[in-house]
Amino acid sequence: MTSVTFAASRDEKSAAALVLFVGEGGQFSAGAEAVDKAGGGQLGRAMKAANFTGKKGKVLEVLAPAGVSASRVLLAGIGEGAKADARTFEDLGGEIAAKVQTTDAELAADFTGIADLAVGTDVAAAHFAHGVDLRNWRFDTYRTKLKDEQKGKLAKLTLIGAAASAKPLAERLAAVAAGVAFAKELITEPGNIIYPESFVARVKAKVEPLGVKVTVLDEKELAKLGAGSMLGVAQGSVRPARLLAMEWNGTGDEKAVPVALVGKGVTFDTGGISLKPGAGMEDMKWDMGGAGAVAGMMVALAGRKAKARVVGVCGLVENMPDGNAQRPGDIVTSMSGQTVEVLNTDAEGRLVLNDCFTWTQRQYKPKVMLDFATLTGAIIISLAHHYAGVFSNSDALWGKIESSGKAVNDLVWRQPLSEKGGHYDQLIDSPVADMKNLGPREGGSITAAQFLQRFVDDGVEWAHVDIAGAVWRPKAGALHDKGATGFGVRLVDKLISDHFEG
Ligand code: BES
Ligand code: MN
Ligand code: ZN
Repeated sequence: MTSVTFAASRDEKSAAALVLFVGEGGQFSAGAEAVDKAGGGQLGRAMKAANFTGKKGKVLEVLAPAGVSASRVLLAGIGEGAKADARTFEDLGGEIAAKVQTTDAELAADFTGIADLAVGTDVAAAHFAHGVDLRNWRFDTYRTKLKDEQKGKLAKLTLIGAAASAKPLAERLAAVAAGVAFAKELITEPGNIIYPESFVARVKAKVEPLGVKVTVLDEKELAKLGAGSMLGVAQGSVRPARLLAMEWNGTGDEKAVPVALVGKGVTFDTGGISLKPGAGMEDMKWDMGGAGAVAGMMVALAGRKAKARVVGVCGLVENMPDGNAQRPGDIVTSMSGQTVEVLNTDAEGRLVLNDCFTWTQRQYKPKVMLDFATLTGAIIISLAHHYAGVFSNSDALWGKIESSGKAVNDLVWRQPLSEKGGHYDQLIDSPVADMKNLGPREGGSITAAQFLQRFVDDGVEWAHVDIAGAVWRPKAGALHDKGATGFGVRLVDKLISDHFEG
């Protein structure tokens, strides 16, 4: 976490890396102008030499002019002031954090006399800090031989000349960033460290102090409830399954109708007896990305004391092949009573989620249920890593998810879904059971969603978010390094904030 402080004016003795804002056409903010003057016009010359014109999102790193104490100066382009919004500043914060995180312990950003923006200076500053905070996350737990120049150092950010009214917003965003960071941590940890029991322990330690109520079901309790679908997946592993439920209620009303969030938590997916090929199998440590996102969402919502009742449910199993593993062709009975012919043990996510759906709906009677799951490789073929795919039985819910995603840059694209009994739904009918867990090769993400829909109660507005491509990205973005993205945490925070808080 990056600690943020506010200052009325620039400390001329500070050795922090200094961010100065520049508008389209090389227009200095007053703060930038002052530093340029103090340095005898060196900033202006550096900009010219580098063809830097203040275009939105561009950052030019220069040596601090003689007489200026900063370790370095980062000129940050905001483009046309009137169009510069929260996202502009968030992205700049992220970009800059990536540049200085291994060189500087302190960063200062001077908002003094910045152009009129599309948002208030306080909002711009808070979102700049949010971008820094998000991008500054690192995972060096197991790197014991890092050289000093490889170590993350950035710990402190000073916002200069930003109204103190930025403080509450900055604090709220810091809670959200903590949720994103926690999701990334869970997702990045390997399968020997994070398995169902250790996932529960780590999440419990994190969320209980925030006021989240935690319920854990072990295998005995799951068996008693008839969770044969989820337990069928777990039976090939020596690591026992867990169902983890987290409840945050910020409404003051114990009976408020909750929003339910369900996450796929396959802590490692070998494929089971339908074993995956070896190359790249290590990626399947992040097959608990949905559960990680849901845990992160609870951290964010409880951390900022959202005025909503939200329950997060994680289905945690390890999918392994061994002498007790389930076989292709096995028929399992789910908690809902519906039977499933398991044609491919690698289509396990849907087998875990369906029992979680049934339990969640019985326990909490939600009217809105979202699930997050690294469910299919096919969604990566469709959308690459850019968008997550959303399948929903509700146009209204989809609209809310789309706009929330856009606002925070967790992008989503709607995918087709038939009604129960409709065209796509029939593709998973089985001749020997109520359904099979495998459709034809074509439309693999759709048949997976159709499968899930068979476990959604009538009247529940539901959306399934297939995040197989979005959880882990091969390239860095403005707000994340390559690797875990924390996808979904900010989307759900925004969704709850805009639509489910009184
Ligand atoms: N966890 C995988 C999906 C996945 C693949 C996530 C690649 C992230 C990256 C899921 O359990 C799986 O194996 N799905 C199969 C389904 C198939 C057997 C119907 C797939 O996508 O190949
Ligand atoms: Mn699988
Ligand atoms: Zn999987």
